[in-house]
Amino acid sequence: MLKKESLHGMWGSRWVFIMAATGSAVGLGNIWKFPYITGENGGGAFVLVYLICIALIGLPLMMAEVLIGRRGRQSPVNSLRDVAEESGQPKAWQAVGLLGALAGFLIFGFYSVVGGWVFSYVSEMAQGSFNGAGADQVGDAFSGMLADPKRMLIWHSIFAFASMVVLVRGVNDGLERAIRILMPALFILLLVVFGYAFSTGHMGEAFHFMFDFSPEKLTANAVLVALGHAFFTLSLGMGTMIAYGSYMTKKASIGSTALTVVVLDTLVALVAGLAIFPIVFANNMDPGAGPGLMFVTLPVAFGNMPMGQIFGFLFFVLVGIAAWTSALSLMEPSIAFVVERFNIKRPLACLVLGLAGWLLGIAALLSFNVWSDVHLLMGKGIFDTLDYVTANIMLPLGGLLIAIFAGYVMLRRFTQEELSLSEGQYQAWRITVRYIAPVLVVIVLVNQLFFS
Ligand code: PFF
Repeated sequence: MLKKESLHGMWGSRWVFIMAATGSAVGLGNIWKFPYITGENGGGAFVLVYLICIALIGLPLMMAEVLIGRRGRQSPVNSLRDVAEESGQPKAWQAVGLLGALAGFLIFGFYSVVGGWVFSYVSEMAQGSFNGAGADQVGDAFSGMLADPKRMLIWHSIFAFASMVVLVRGVNDGLERAIRILMPALFILLLVVFGYAFSTGHMGEAFHFMFDFSPEKLTANAVLVALGHAFFTLSLGMGTMIAYGSYMTKKASIGSTALTVVVLDTLVALVAGLAIFPIVFANNMDPGAGPGLMFVTLPVAFGNMPMGQIFGFLFFVLVGIAAWTSALSLMEPSIAFVVERFNIKRPLACLVLGLAGWLLGIAALLSFNVWSDVHLLMGKGIFDTLDYVTANIMLPLGGLLIAIFAGYVMLRRFTQEELSLSEGQYQAWRITVRYIAPVLVVIVLVNQLFFS
């Protein structure tokens, strides 16, 4: 018998769900990764492919996850189990939930390290450390941080602690309360930084860079990167949206709610690009600088602009908030599962998982220095292995299985009942989860596993 309410709590309203899911989706992926992969892949054509991936795979899969969660009303593991059983299918589908909870936990390990870098940049910006600095100096400061395990440990610990403090208080007193404050703050800061970027007079160049379509720049690899990023940026494939969906009221429409989240996430990524590139161009710097775009290029740019210290500080506060609200959602599936499975109180589950995630993060940060010659997969260090295995393999695999689950395993009448769309809309959704999304994801996975 399926449950009416989740034992972990319920979101206060549909709007809270939208803010929580957007908080999960909007993270380092939008503000750090999206602009730099756009830069590396030549801009416009890449952005277009990315938008197509979001529409074709992102939205339907987000709807699939939310509907599974809302029907199961438990952690992703147990929701999948019960929803499978309801359709007369084996309980073993719960393994998909376990895979997801594990992925979230692993991502948390390295995400918290990068979140720590962001927090440390907030403090550097506040002190004006980059004022007037050249590219070499900021580059050295960044490598210096990577070479300094103690410093990274402190910031990683602060970030992990900040996440657990919210999670320990539960869905309503923790997540909901934090999100109600942090998300409006995030949007305001984004607009402020965007306004500042506008004032540089280089918005036109940024627009051309991001939206001029030059098909010759589009490589097969860029298509794969865009597809992979669509999962990561929308927090799909690991059960986060199943967990958040399990706290959503029956009344809300899943289609329009998921659409709102997808649109907000995409808007934030685009606006973040339009806030970053004018600042980069105003300083004649390289938009294709890779991962260092945010941690080296931007601080140099801010350090050499009027009022750059203040806006640079606000920018990193913004990124810190985005990373924090995402980190919360990375741990929620495993916390909810441990509470249900071992019948323990939430604080204990948070303590155990938080400590384990913190330790994993320490291993990840040591891979930049003391353990730099520990190689796990394909010559990659611990940090890069965690990133590669989760983002390139576990999330797409999870996404594929969830699409199959919603498209083939669940009985049609249950998905139809949960989505309550018009017949045409429902057909479109069903065709995407049954055919389009699985085929595209298999192409990405095969490529990742065998050709890269
Ligand atoms: N969507 C987040 C980002 O773009 O940074 C990352 C993420 C959060 C992935 C939560 C997966 C997840 F469950």
